[in-house]
Amino acid sequence: MYTRIFSKAKRLENTNYDIRGPLLEEAENLIKQNHKILKLNIGNTAPFDLLPPEEMVLFFQKNILKSFGYTESKGIPEARLAILQNYQRRRLTNLNIENIFIGNGVSDLIEIICKAFLNKGDELLVGIPDYPLWTSTVKTFGKVVHYLCDENSSWLPDIRDIKRKITPKTKGIVIIPFNNPTGAVYPKDILEQIIKIAREHQLAIFSDEIYDKIIYDTHESISIASLAEDVLFVTLNGLSKAYRLPGWRCGWAVFSGKTDIATGFIQGVKELCDQKLGANAPGQIVVQSALGGYQSIFDLTKVGGRLHTQRDLGYKLLSQIPGISCVKPKSALYFFPKIDVKKFNIKSDEQFLLDFLKEKQVLLTAGKGFNWPQPDHFRIVFLPHVDELKDALGRLKDFLEHYKQK
Ligand SMILES: Cc1ncc(COP(=O)(O)O)c(C=O)c1O
Repeated sequence: MYTRIFSKAKRLENTNYDIRGPLLEEAENLIKQNHKILKLNIGNTAPFDLLPPEEMVLFFQKNILKSFGYTESKGIPEARLAILQNYQRRRLTNLNIENIFIGNGVSDLIEIICKAFLNKGDELLVGIPDYPLWTSTVKTFGKVVHYLCDENSSWLPDIRDIKRKITPKTKGIVIIPFNNPTGAVYPKDILEQIIKIAREHQLAIFSDEIYDKIIYDTHESISIASLAEDVLFVTLNGLSKAYRLPGWRCGWAVFSGKTDIATGFIQGVKELCDQKLGANAPGQIVVQSALGGYQSIFDLTKVGGRLHTQRDLGYKLLSQIPGISCVKPKSALYFFPKIDVKKFNIKSDEQFLLDFLKEKQVLLTAGKGFNWPQPDHFRIVFLPHVDELKDALGRLKDFLEHYKQK
């Protein structure tokens, strides 16, 4: 007879990942009761017919026999060479193939990096609204300190707030310069100011660039690591978004710039990769064909391309809903609108979205899921085709015509 209870480990107590949280649970319950739910909670390309480039799939089919075994723990050399060459073209400095690591998606590498980098009490600066895995993982191994990304400045990092938050324990700063959930694109002067702070306070810069090719209009895609040689950079990217292959779980982390101060950290990352016996092989096999081949993502993001059209339509429809305002996304796959909490008496963003889900069968993510402290924001994925997107935003408009939170 057991008298003990197995609880969740204490280190997980304050972590969350609400993109797949309680709202999704409620959606699954509704699906069991035969409701059709439109899931706009996650940037998953496949359910919306955004498929990977055909030549990548053909290349994989021809090379499938090579994907049955464990790979080198840092990743297969052909893939790492293609990644190295990609970042040579983007003008990163001090690149070395030995300092490039492939993992099971950026998600996996965030954990590996935080585990190898942070001791208890070490602080890492993370911008809010955040991609919540960063906050959760930093909390697991060290201490997260949030800095503000300011909606009034197109969601750019508030440099003064970053400076205010630095303490003797600050070890690094995380940026998502092509941002989820806000769609901000960080311009060169902001990136340079972040570098200046890192230089002054001896910080490492972690740049999660998974949307670096999903940029609209004429906004520039600049890798922060191309702007200095004397600061340590870790750049993260992968196949999930631009190459529409989230299911193959393939991402990479690239050390550049002042790598000579990080030999111990890099060794730690290598040891963790060794312990994992290498990343998922199918994803690695197609990296070379992804990075070297035709970049069909630009057909989707250009004027008239599918993603561009969906972004424009969604933005127009959102702007027509009384009580909703939104900074137009310049990158990525999401709207992060503001809702007038007084007008709708909203005290809880999660409750608002729960009520919307139950009445209109559309699943969205609350701002709380991105560690946003007020209940006045939520995220909408704009991956659906225009008809479906129009329908979803029409349902939001109808709902808000009568909604008042109890
Ligand atoms: C900013 C950001 N980083 C990382 C990830 C996860 O990437 P991956 O699929 O490579 O694990 C996502 C997924 O949405 C993301 O938005």
